[in-house]
Amino acid sequence: MSAQIRIGIVTVSDRASAGIYADEGGPAIEAYFVKVLTTPWTPVARIIPDDRKGIAETLIALADDEGCCLIVTTGGTGPAPRDVTPEATVDVIEKPMPGFGELMRQVSLAKVPTAILSRQTAGIRGRSLIVNLPGRPRAITECLDAVMPAIPYCIDLIEGPFLETDPAVIVAFRPGQKPKG
Ligand code: MTE
Repeated sequence: MSAQIRIGIVTVSDRASAGIYADEGGPAIEAYFVKVLTTPWTPVARIIPDDRKGIAETLIALADDEGCCLIVTTGGTGPAPRDVTPEATVDVIEKPMPGFGELMRQVSLAKVPTAILSRQTAGIRGRSLIVNLPGRPRAITECLDAVMPAIPYCIDLIEGPFLETDPAVIVAFRPGQKPKG
């Protein structure tokens, strides 16, 4: 069944979705999970404009119809008028997971003072964990490295699939279980 593990990768950008520039964020997220996960998985990628309703509909489709256990968005987390990814995320989640945004901002602040401008958040919809990342490609590794150790156990708790990581890259922390590697 592990080959059916699906991860949603959503690039939220007016310009990338219009083809004005190439999407770098989505491929960077996919490359990150290729590097980190040893469990077979399939990406379900979308590139969509900064539209609150459209983002919410995409997140619902990836969670409810595509069965993604994890959905990662990139972009639209800042204060600009078109930045609405956190609002759309809050529109569709049943349980907020504020620790994700708190930790990602904390580690990002050590890299760049403008990290406080990201309103990135996370939450649970059914059996899906949705996590927002900022739009800058370099923010993807900076943020995912911080939260990835807790993601497999979070997905265990929402009765999703058992995700395993390469311990040489990221050690997945599961309370009561001796870490591999
Ligand atoms: N976080 C990390 N780790 N690295 C970054 O370069 N850029 C910041 C912030 N968080 C950044 C970061 C900047 S400049 C902005 S404006 C906000 O994320 C929001 O970005 P977004 O609107 O593209 O999501």
